[in-house]
Amino acid sequence: LVADSLFVINNFARNYFTDQLWNSEEGQNIALSYLEERGFAKEVMEKFQLGYSPQSRTAFITQARTQQFTPELLLKTGLVVNRNDELLDNYRGRIIFPIHNNTGKIIGFGARVIGKAEKAPKYINTPENELYVKSKILYGSYFARQSIDKNDECLLVEGYTDVISLHQAGIENVVASGGTSLTIDQLRLIKKYTNNLTIIYDGDAAGIKAALRGLDMALEEGLDVKLVLIPDKEDPDSYVRKVGAAEFREFVKAYKKDFILFQLEVMLKDAGNDVSKRSAVVNHVAETLSKINKAEDFTKQQEYIRQCSGILRVDETGFTTLVNKYK
Ligand code: CTP
Ligand code: MN
Ligand code: MN
Ligand code: MN
Ligand code: MN
Repeated sequence: LVADSLFVINNFARNYFTDQLWNSEEGQNIALSYLEERGFAKEVMEKFQLGYSPQSRTAFITQARTQQFTPELLLKTGLVVNRNDELLDNYRGRIIFPIHNNTGKIIGFGARVIGKAEKAPKYINTPENELYVKSKILYGSYFARQSIDKNDECLLVEGYTDVISLHQAGIENVVASGGTSLTIDQLRLIKKYTNNLTIIYDGDAAGIKAALRGLDMALEEGLDVKLVLIPDKEDPDSYVRKVGAAEFREFVKAYKKDFILFQLEVMLKDAGNDVSKRSAVVNHVAETLSKINKAEDFTKQQEYIRQCSGILRVDETGFTTLVNKYK
């Protein structure tokens, strides 16, 4: 089967990249020193099986040729690319983040440039293939499952480094969406583990927008969503490093906001005293609340209706009718 062969190649590559990071001079000088400078501890680098892909255009492919891998399969993994009928390494000079499935097998890789991304993209990711289906990947889920169970809560962050740094800080119930666009499939996976989702995104405009986009989807999936926005210019990785594990936990606890009320706040602030804008907000919130699955969560919906109509200063009965209109 194609999938089995891809696992074998990915596993071979993972071993190759970790060996390069820890045991080659180039890896130690360029990659390990960079990761250490950023503050990653040996334990988490090993746990997440971080690696290094050398700068040479043929370092990996030369090793891969000693195995019985076909060019077709090698190309499928995205580990190599075809340049004028020659197979060349794709992740040259990059830090490698292996991506694990729920049994710990490698389904793909994220590859980060070392230092500032100037011309090249900061990350290159595995192309879609039999194993790597981007919309269904939650980075870190293999390492988070137990802790999600224990806490009955899943933290969702944007990036690989956020997940790793939070583990280092002792916070293990965390997965990453891999960028800002959360998908319905990712939410369904989370829902299998827990009902309680806490989104911890960057506090910048892109982060807020992405978080709000996820709200309707999450409600339709029946998740209880809370939101924490990291102060501007920081992400969970940089913030936990800045303030330390204990303060980060306190921050999350203190600033965890109910997602619906948060959305309402943002929109009302935006509308100001403009009557038609305010009425648009009323309608929007009503539509949002209509998405809470009524059979399952009738009391929850009622409580939201009560609180939101209060904040909006509209009549509760009339507002209830409006919510039901959207059903
Ligand atoms: N991402 C990606 N491709 C890019 C940029 C980002 O796939 N060109 C994904 C990666 O999964 C990345 C996440 O989006 O981890 C968040 O992006 P960003 O915040 O830019 O990167 P960080 O994770 O913060 O990485 P670092 O701290 O190393 O800069
Ligand atoms: Mn970002
Ligand atoms: Mn951001
Ligand atoms: Mn980030
Ligand atoms: Mn970062």
